[in-house]
Amino acid sequence: MIQKIEWSKKFLTGNREVDLQHQYFVELINRIIWEILEQKDDIYHSLLMEELVMYADFHFKSEENILYKLGYCNLEKHKKLHRDLIDELSARIINVKTMSNTTIKLIDFLVQWFVNHTITVDIISFESFNKGK
Ligand SMILES: [Fe+2]
Repeated sequence: MIQKIEWSKKFLTGNREVDLQHQYFVELINRIIWEILEQKDDIYHSLLMEELVMYADFHFKSEENILYKLGYCNLEKHKKLHRDLIDELSARIINVKTMSNTTIKLIDFLVQWFVNHTITVDIISFESFNKGK
């Protein structure tokens, strides 16, 4: 059974805009999990996956712009992690159209990725800019 993400303080980066976007990301993932379990419509599942990827894409661009403005030195490395996830999700979505239970695996993969990326890479990236706040 797929686990929803429980929002917690461990996700906070200290940047208000990024934290608001992460919080919405968690809500969106949880809503999509609920919808996927409720609706057994493969076309609707792939539409929800597209919505999720488009939000992830927007959020990554926004986070990258904030880090750029702050002068973050490892931005290219961080951007590559974001691009790799979008590529991976996009490639997997092609299969969702033909394999109905792939959607749950895809969400599960995204949940793991979100939790790991946020509590490690994002927090480390914003850490030095929070000192003295
Ligand atoms: Fe990130």
